[in-house]
Amino acid sequence: MEPLVDSWGRRIESVRVSVTDKCNFRCTYCMPAEGLQWLPRAEVLTFEEIARLVRILAAMGVSETRLTGGEPLIRRDLPELVRQLAVTPGVEDLSLTTNGVLLDRLAGPLVEAGLKRINVSLDSLSHTRFAELARRDALDKVLAGLEEAERYPELRPIKVNCVAIKGFTEPEVPALAELARRKPYVVRFIEFMPLDADEVWRDDQVLTGDEIRALIEDVYGPLVELPAKASSTAKRYGFADGKGEVGFVNPVSEPFCSACDRIRITADGQLRTCLFSTREWDLKTRLRDGSSDEQLAAAIREAVIHKELKHRINERGFVRASRSMSQIGG
Ligand code: 5AD
Ligand code: SF4
Repeated sequence: MEPLVDSWGRRIESVRVSVTDKCNFRCTYCMPAEGLQWLPRAEVLTFEEIARLVRILAAMGVSETRLTGGEPLIRRDLPELVRQLAVTPGVEDLSLTTNGVLLDRLAGPLVEAGLKRINVSLDSLSHTRFAELARRDALDKVLAGLEEAERYPELRPIKVNCVAIKGFTEPEVPALAELARRKPYVVRFIEFMPLDADEVWRDDQVLTGDEIRALIEDVYGPLVELPAKASSTAKRYGFADGKGEVGFVNPVSEPFCSACDRIRITADGQLRTCLFSTREWDLKTRLRDGSSDEQLAAAIREAVIHKELKHRINERGFVRASRSMSQIGG
């Protein structure tokens, strides 16, 4: 099938599929403390529907699939979906983003089902500060989940993602850098984006990748830049003695939209062409009204034609997305 290309010439090669809008954390940079309405179960795509979309996308050259949420591991029988996707022709890279709290139980079954790599969110190594941010006291469970993931050498790299918030994250940086040196984890700092349900984001709360790098270099000396793929969102750095790797995902201070190769599918089957889209494309209805694969592919192409050139976070008149991160899928 023809590759999937947007009207700016970018090839779409990556899809993030949200398998649930629910989460067992309430991270302040993502969800409200309470009161978020969950999708009715009938609105959420079934495994068969997700597998069909991924198959159609893979045939168009979308070779990378990442499962997200909400928290994907609370979706019942998730390894079964992984098993189906892992054998889908054209799916070359299958990964998962999780808060890690259920990983001690699920790492084994997920690897056995064919999962190849994993991203675990971890914003603090202090119990009290972790609980403050995630509004759940779950640091030990997350660390146990990471330890369990480590037991499977097939599951690499293990990436640890930290959302960097000015006034919160600075004191966490040395311990997270140390984690990257001590453990086989690539620790990545991601700039805080205006995707929080509470809408408290302000541009002065963004702790930039450069600022964090300076904090690390204060302790460890100059970092060494490592080569990264063109489509990669992260800048990679090694420590001078070769032990450990950190990364910086700088969507706010250094937007990488021009190299963006991804689309997203929400748990309720809406295609989004940007994290900051104000418009969604309804695939769920087409999945359920007897549309053919060709018709679905045509609907996907039509959406991708409208993919945004770039986000406008730093511009006047920026309009927030219609949903927050947990409803879109990180
Ligand atoms: N800004 C940046 N990243 C975010 N995430 C969630 N909310 C935000 C935000 N406001 C990311 C985190 C988390 C993943 C699920 O989504 O990296 O690990
Ligand atoms: Fe849940 Fe991830 Fe959002 Fe935290 S960031 S509330 S773990 S979906």
